[in-house]
Amino acid sequence: MTTATSPLDTKTIEIIKSTVPVLAQHGEGITKRFYEMMFTNHPELLNIFNHANQKQGRQPKALANTVYAAAAYIDNLEAILPVVRQIAHKHRSLQVKAEHYPIVGKHLLLAIKDVLGDAATDDIIDAWGKAYGVIADVFIQVEKEMYEETVSQSGGWNDFRDFTVAKKVKESEVITSFYLQPKDGKEIPTFTPGQYISIRVKIAGEEYTHIRQYSLSDSPEKEYYRISVKKETSSSEHIPNGKVSTYLHDTIQEGDTLEVTAPAGDFVLDVESTGPVVFLSGGVGITPMISMLNTIATQQPNRKVAFIHAAINGTTHAMHEHVKELSNQSENIEYYLCYEKPTEKDLLNKEYTKEGYMDLPWIDSIVKDKNASFYFCGPIPFMKTVNNTLKELGISSDKIHFEFFGPADQLN
Ligand SMILES: Cc1cc2nc3c(=O)[nH]c(=O)nc-3n(C[C@H](O)[C@H](O)[C@H](O)COP(=O)(O)OP(=O)(O)OC[C@H]3O[C@@H](n4cnc5c(N)ncnc54)[C@H](O)[C@@H]3O)c2cc1C
Ligand code: HEM
Repeated sequence: MTTATSPLDTKTIEIIKSTVPVLAQHGEGITKRFYEMMFTNHPELLNIFNHANQKQGRQPKALANTVYAAAAYIDNLEAILPVVRQIAHKHRSLQVKAEHYPIVGKHLLLAIKDVLGDAATDDIIDAWGKAYGVIADVFIQVEKEMYEETVSQSGGWNDFRDFTVAKKVKESEVITSFYLQPKDGKEIPTFTPGQYISIRVKIAGEEYTHIRQYSLSDSPEKEYYRISVKKETSSSEHIPNGKVSTYLHDTIQEGDTLEVTAPAGDFVLDVESTGPVVFLSGGVGITPMISMLNTIATQQPNRKVAFIHAAINGTTHAMHEHVKELSNQSENIEYYLCYEKPTEKDLLNKEYTKEGYMDLPWIDSIVKDKNASFYFCGPIPFMKTVNNTLKELGISSDKIHFEFFGPADQLN
């Protein structure tokens, strides 16, 4: 069991705590500078980091927020262990290793010096060096346990493993599923519904590899892992299309090989519970919900489920027939559908329940059991609406679970 009591002396803790406001002011500037310097000195790390997140500033923001949190709790790091675990899942999935931490630490200190100038006295730099060491040790220890746990599972592995694309199935105009089987023909570990894998691709003509996470979109205990990927097409000529999703859709074919890390993530269905669940998904955020739904349909047929999905319309909507069938077969599975802009065909079929966006009155009217557990995933504005709605409906936060399809963000 990991404990995280700070071994730092009182003076160091005082300095760290008193510089938190300075960090709050310069935090993002420092992390941006940190990435610039780190990638200049260690371009090989561009094989791990997501370049699009860097360009849009999402990752620097996420790292900055964690550094503030860690600094504020430097004498009580136990308090941030849940956050550390969530990040550690991502790090483990990306194969971040203990030997990477000193590189990050060195460049963080260089960036602090660079941005704060004379204000960064030797005492401050020394204190931050020690504090980073303590924070890094917590991450390294949590991740070490995760690596050990992963490899010790039946069929488990660390690092990337070659998988063959056994089947490629179009689910909608924008979403395609890939059925992945291990090339070595050996066992693959089970996972908890809601977890994701990382895929690493080497695109011809590109200098660096690209790694992305994809939620597993079918139930566990199968001979394959299935992912369902939305093709991220840019609407502006100035912004490139999504790198990996476009590559998977346009280039990867049945029989091709993809490099995969073992399932990770803490957005998981509580399979020990038999209590009612409500799934709320927007767009491709449907993928972890389908894994959870399929698991309940086969393993917990008496469990009550409300499956609530929002899509633009029937052309982009994936897996509709599948969910409809499960719902028709079981009186315990209720299915509600919200289309933002139904097509003429949708208007004729009238399979959707609501037109426009999900909102509080609609969710309130269809969610009968407010003591249920709620799981949601989708675009950030969708997630904000759902989160605010659940809060307004008085759902307690321990019943609310969500996944970001990118670096964690604020939902309030
Ligand atoms: C836990 C988790 C689970 C996930 N599960 C799924 C899933 O089940 N299915 C799924 O489809 N996705 C899933 N994702 C998202 C997935 O990992 C990728 O982020 C997604 O496929 C886009 O990757 P990409 O390489 O195609 O796009 P990227 O190249 O990463 O680009 C992302 C977006 O940024 C835009 N962009 C690129 N460069 C710039 C720039 N310079 N300025 C502004 N915008 C830019 C692109 O047009 C694109 O829209 C998940 C993510 C996480 C973290
Ligand atoms: C104490 C040190 C560290 C902290 C506080 C930290 C924090 C974070 C946070 C908050 C995220 C975003 C998680 C999410 O919401 O998805 C993240 C992601 C990531 N981290 Fe770390 N990290 C640390 C060390 C490292 C190290 C040593 C590496 C390897 C060089 C690394 C590589 C990554 C990568 C590649 C991602 C995903 C980035 C992306 O997809 O854009 N991190 N980290």
